[in-house]
Amino acid sequence: MPLSKTPYLRDTPKTVPCTVREVKRMTTKSVVVTLDPGLNLPRFRHAPGQRLTFSLNVHGSPCFRSYNLVNPVGQLPQIAVKQVSEGGASQLFNEQVQPGDVLEVMPPSGHVYERKLDYTAHHIMLFAAGSGITPLISIAHHALMARPDHRVTLVFANSTPRDIMMQFELERMAKSSRFEVFHVLGDGATGEDLSTGRLDHAKLNRLLEQFHISGLPHLAFLSGPQGFMALVEEVAKAQPTPLATRRYSFMDQPFLHLEDRSATQRTSEVSVTMNGVTKIIEQVPRAMTLLGAADEAGLAMTANCRSGICHRCKAKLISGQTLQKTPAATERQVEAGWILCCQQRPASGRVEIEMG
Ligand code: FES
Repeated sequence: MPLSKTPYLRDTPKTVPCTVREVKRMTTKSVVVTLDPGLNLPRFRHAPGQRLTFSLNVHGSPCFRSYNLVNPVGQLPQIAVKQVSEGGASQLFNEQVQPGDVLEVMPPSGHVYERKLDYTAHHIMLFAAGSGITPLISIAHHALMARPDHRVTLVFANSTPRDIMMQFELERMAKSSRFEVFHVLGDGATGEDLSTGRLDHAKLNRLLEQFHISGLPHLAFLSGPQGFMALVEEVAKAQPTPLATRRYSFMDQPFLHLEDRSATQRTSEVSVTMNGVTKIIEQVPRAMTLLGAADEAGLAMTANCRSGICHRCKAKLISGQTLQKTPAATERQVEAGWILCCQQRPASGRVEIEMG
């Protein structure tokens, strides 16, 4: 397939050609892709929580997309990709990429794990929601290998059992007495109160109590929608002995698709998460504000003034780029990483936001 044969990909100097070795389906909407960088393999040794950035050509539009590495260190690089939309890069990985294809890939980047954690035994707690599992699974792999006395507990929230990514790998890892997985399912499939429905303060308090291991320092890594991570942080802080937390967020990582040349497109795909529910809006004109796009899609986004004053439409920019429409003299500043949807237009092939 012509994934690596466009003029743009040949012009991209920092990428390395990697042959697709295997594409393994995990759920109806997600795959694990194994890559072989050949002689460049040493450049693909990664630290826990790092990711690969791909230079792709999706339906004639060049773009960069990043996916977390999920393989244990020392094995061929693997990424897990959940399909989040029709026609985008995630669909390409889920439906078109095949063994033997050659993809242009930048070596691992980003960071989330501090090596000093391995100086002493820890109980490492991982809180993941949906595809948020991908950066955390390499932390689990690393922690179990780094020290024989590290313990790892994963609390993993999904809507249904069919949505659980990396399930096979998690079952394999759970054979270790030092690794425990606790699934929380929105559809009530487990039949138990604690593992049914959305996580809330009461459930998190009970889970922290249940999984407390005395004698070991605890640290929690969080990955998922902003609201999910904020809730875990709030409960962790309120413990009698506050639990330290680390967020995994693309916004905290050094690479933010700054070279995304898909700005030549006339439309963008906008992913909006509100109250834990994600909606994908296709074909948003670049001239339209994010608030306007939500209006057209029938999304009830909170807004009042529509002129940058009230901040009711504030959202966290998770990935992609946006541009300010005409600057408003009255506009107050928003914190770094946040945007006002009534004031910003999409400026990259995909923009992902979560309402504050
Ligand atoms: S709606 Fe008031 S600042 Fe956007």
